[in-house]
Amino acid sequence: MLVYFVTDEPTKLPAIRAVLEPQHAVVPWLLGGDGTRIRSHGVLMVDVDLRQMPRVDQLRFILQDLAAIPEKLFVVHNLSRSMVAQAHALGATSIISRPKEAILKVAQIEAAEAAADSAAAPGLDMDEGVAAFASMFSNVRLGKPVKVADAKRATSKIINRVGRDGLSTWLDEVRRYHEGTFQHCLLVTGVAVGFALDIGFSGADVSRLGLAATLHDIGKARIPLAILDKPGRLDAEEEEIIRRHPVIGYDLLRGVAGITPEILDGVRHHHEYLDGSGYPDGLKDSEISDLVRLLTISDIFAALIESRPYRPPMPRPDAYQILCGMEGKLEGSLVKAFRNVALGSE
Ligand SMILES: [Fe+2]
Ligand SMILES: [Fe+2]
Repeated sequence: MLVYFVTDEPTKLPAIRAVLEPQHAVVPWLLGGDGTRIRSHGVLMVDVDLRQMPRVDQLRFILQDLAAIPEKLFVVHNLSRSMVAQAHALGATSIISRPKEAILKVAQIEAAEAAADSAAAPGLDMDEGVAAFASMFSNVRLGKPVKVADAKRATSKIINRVGRDGLSTWLDEVRRYHEGTFQHCLLVTGVAVGFALDIGFSGADVSRLGLAATLHDIGKARIPLAILDKPGRLDAEEEEIIRRHPVIGYDLLRGVAGITPEILDGVRHHHEYLDGSGYPDGLKDSEISDLVRLLTISDIFAALIESRPYRPPMPRPDAYQILCGMEGKLEGSLVKAFRNVALGSE
């Protein structure tokens, strides 16, 4: 596989070559140098000091020309939170903390591309929707307010895409290109929109559920990445921190123009269960709105079928069986109605 290595320090090149060659061909591009050999396939790997604004500006300029390369792997040393956010804002699709992790990542990308050879190429809607999503998350990570316009733009792109090509295509593409919370929210939105379209919601209702799904875990943008991306079980304290995200999301969005009470309800209550065992408010039965019930089903299903570096995605029928086993917590008639969407026969 071709790996275009963009760096600000030529001294970083030998180490990358030592890691990736001879399995992969490394094509170096020094920041500010000639990039004419860059093509539209392969992987772009970026190891640039993102604390240096002039370098970030140079990089941004380069990246404008590279939108056609779908995989953008950034090295962020020590996974500094603000630099990770910066990398995402610049379009990173994967982040590693040390150059030597590149060998595994590039192999994963290569395998995913091989497996997805027959899948449709990502369309414009996908790219624009994902970019709007990325910018929304990065802004919140950096402490800026939520841009509702970004959320709405991302949602409408996802609605177009799922409506046009079906949910399965969307899920395959998102799982190939993104990871972590970001992938999760893209998946939940696709699933929720697919669900709403399948059960014949009006356009306005599809948009409402889609926007709630887009924003449902926005509070996680304020949870440390070390907890969010921890490969494996969380301890009790970490669990407690992560369980704050619905209230954090609610507080981030409360009073923001364009955010309706039902969106706030979805963000705050998507972890509530009909039997009262959910959080943060322990709501029961009729206290949980229809929109929230749909969102919760979509959320659990998407979480189960996510691909993570440390575990393969659960097959869709198995994930659906888990939903079916959550009787008393989820609305049975909705879980039944979700069957076609879950199994991919929509
Ligand atoms: Fe959540
Ligand atoms: Fe979620």
